[in-house]
Amino acid sequence: MIARVIAIDGPAASGKSSTAAAVARELGASHLDSGALYRGLTLIALELGQDDPVGIVAEADRRGLVLEHDGAEIVPFLDGRPAESQIRSEAVTAAVSRIAALSVLREWVNARLRDAATLERILVLDGRDIGTAVFPDAKLKVFLTASPEARARRRLAQRGEMFDSDTVRAEANVLAARDASDASRAVAPLRRAADAILVDTTDLSFREQVDRIVTAARKALLV
Ligand code: DC
Repeated sequence: MIARVIAIDGPAASGKSSTAAAVARELGASHLDSGALYRGLTLIALELGQDDPVGIVAEADRRGLVLEHDGAEIVPFLDGRPAESQIRSEAVTAAVSRIAALSVLREWVNARLRDAATLERILVLDGRDIGTAVFPDAKLKVFLTASPEARARRRLAQRGEMFDSDTVRAEANVLAARDASDASRAVAPLRRAADAILVDTTDLSFREQVDRIVTAARKALLV
């Protein structure tokens, strides 16, 4: 069996993962943040000190970089433990877009995402290329976006730091650089699928954006 997939793609810090997790909870579905696997591979690349994709994949298999259920969340484990805190470091965030551009690694990730989908009833997946490349037959495709300033403000608020307009501008520039890198790569670039619904969250509350997607998902899944 293959899960009925809800694909949520969009740029960095558009709130995809928290939105996807909330949508999954409402639908009684599982949730998988595909960026977490790219982050796991990036952690390995940084620890190895090399960008050779074949070496990174071999090390990922040796150390057991695998997807496991943690409740309704499907998350990467490394060395038998959840990798969540390690993969969110600043060093990983700075390097992940470069590592995610390597096609051997994209194939490795996609195989694991498709395997995970065979074990689920309904799977909410978020990333950059879920609706365009990984699950082109997804039941519902959403492209979630927000202005760079709105995304920068949310990201800074999440970190719990004080910020002024200069800090917001600087963070918006960092996000824009990562979006440009993700959107300009040769393999599976970040872009909206032709049949994806656009949800611009700049002026939406979290509740509103979740409700909008849940409503569309219930219609698409007939649940
Ligand atoms: O969503 P995130 O910031 O955790 O994603 C980390 C990086 O992984 C991001 O720079 C783009 C890449 N990514 C990707 O190329 N394809 C995906 N399906 C998910 C993430």
